[in-house]
Amino acid sequence: NNRTYTMIKPDAVSAGNSGAIIKMIEEAGFRIVSMKMTQMTKEIAGKFYEVHKERPFYGELCDYMSSGPIIPMILEKDNAVEDFRKLIGATNPAEAAEGTIRKLFAKSIEANAIHGSDSDENAAIEGAFFFSAVDQY
Ligand code: GTP
Ligand code: MG
Repeated sequence: NNRTYTMIKPDAVSAGNSGAIIKMIEEAGFRIVSMKMTQMTKEIAGKFYEVHKERPFYGELCDYMSSGPIIPMILEKDNAVEDFRKLIGATNPAEAAEGTIRKLFAKSIEANAIHGSDSDENAAIEGAFFFSAVDQY
């Protein structure tokens, strides 16, 4: 598969960093297939992060991810999932490599600016969570 799913998280949208992040994504060679601005309810965030429901930070994560607008996107590039995870950097910005999106823009391990799917299978599931078939041309 050559697609991945991402969303710019509430901290980065509210800080006005969306444009700079989208520019980095495009300059790294990703084509934006689908994109929108939306906001999740806590219930929707809970569904999106259901795989994390046993983790101690699940409740806080769902509160945080529903706290403001997000920008979901489907992206296309060869080796998309792996290359995009490299572009965004480690979950914890303190451990993220220089020049990565999280190193530049994340506020904390939770408010870490951006999401990136961790497998081709999850990329397809997550893309379909936010975009209907007609948007996934
Ligand atoms: P995503 O691309 O957002 O899935 O991040 P990830 O794959 O690098 O991390 P993971 O899937 O393990 O965790 C999902 C999200 O939960 C992270 O991006 C953070 O927003 C949040 N998170 C992860 N670990 C912690 C933690 O220890 N504490 C808190 N408060 N949030 C965390
Ligand atoms: Mg993850």
